Amino acid sequence: MTEHARDIAAAVDALRAGQLVGLPTETVYGLAADARNPDAVAKIFAAKGRPANHPLIVHLASAEQLDDWAREIPEAARILAAAFWPGPLTLILKRQRGVPDAVTGGQDTVGLRVPAHPVAHAVLSAFGGGLAAPSANRFGRISPTTAAHVREELGSSVAMVLDGGECEVGIESTIVDLSRGVPVVLRPGRVSVDEMSRALGAPVFAADALDSSAPRASGTLASHYAPTTPVRLLDVPALLAETVAAAQAGRRIGVLSRTLIDDAPAHGSVWLQLPNDPVGYAHGLYRDLRRLDQCGAEVLLVEAPPRSIEWQAVNDRLRRAAADATAAGEGLPKA
Ligand code: TXA
Ligand code: MG
Repeated sequence: MTEHARDIAAAVDALRAGQLVGLPTETVYGLAADARNPDAVAKIFAAKGRPANHPLIVHLASAEQLDDWAREIPEAARILAAAFWPGPLTLILKRQRGVPDAVTGGQDTVGLRVPAHPVAHAVLSAFGGGLAAPSANRFGRISPTTAAHVREELGSSVAMVLDGGECEVGIESTIVDLSRGVPVVLRPGRVSVDEMSRALGAPVFAADALDSSAPRASGTLASHYAPTTPVRLLDVPALLAETVAAAQAGRRIGVLSRTLIDDAPAHGSVWLQLPNDPVGYAHGLYRDLRRLDQCGAEVLLVEAPPRSIEWQAVNDRLRRAAADATAAGEGLPKA
């Protein structure tokens, strides 16, 4: 047996024994448990410090398992599954009988996804059943995109963390609700509204994620995905003015730039630069927010991306990261 095969086998044993496993996916790392075992699922909520009524996504090895978990599956779900699975898309469907309340938060719907990461796929295939897996971070914190992030945050709660390298997508899956007649996106991600509309030949609607009347998903809490350091989203002139003021005052700040080079007179500040394209930016976003969060800055200033549709998923995550500072009146360009 290769080391890889041994790790997969050990993970499957741990999952069958009702333990938690840190699992790489193409989006972010998940905190996985046997979705049919309510005691195992309860450990996820305890480890994350997550409220028990927040539903979890069930991960499957293949779309052939859809009917084990969902009922009254609309044609649109089959089309989206065929077009985007394995991949970064979660379908909300009416739950099949027997899906534990612990997984769905007591709702009549269930979130399902077939991830594209080879390690996740190997574990799911060998395990055979569904794995409930939220992002492997403590509740309200940034999702992990490396195995080291998972160990930092939840190391003591898991039987093991499988190392699948850095996550390719870098932000969580697109969530589309197919349980209420028309497809509604609850969380934007790499799979866009346009791509789904094209696959379906019918419109897909975008729920305003910050609308408090939107269906409950923890990703829709305004201040989800936040670093512990306050985050402010600024356009270029405001960001430059702030860095100059901070330098003059001797304040230490972190800057996440997109087009700006580190040429401001910002002594004591830490600059990280992400690619000026939405896919490359999303890939590095959580990693860099984590780095900046650990650099001892009093505030993180983020160069706001364009408002265009291609940047929607990134802007969604940045608005949430900045939501606490915004609520405190610290200024953010109006969305
Ligand atoms: O990319 C991902 O989706 C990652 C990886 C690990 O697969 N998982 C993830 O899980 O982001 P989590 O728990 O951090 O976020 C799942 C989101 C939550 O906002 C949850 O409320 C929502 O999915 N969700 C799950 N089931 C739902 C349901 N039945 N109805 C509405 N929202 C649901
Ligand atoms: Mg999460």
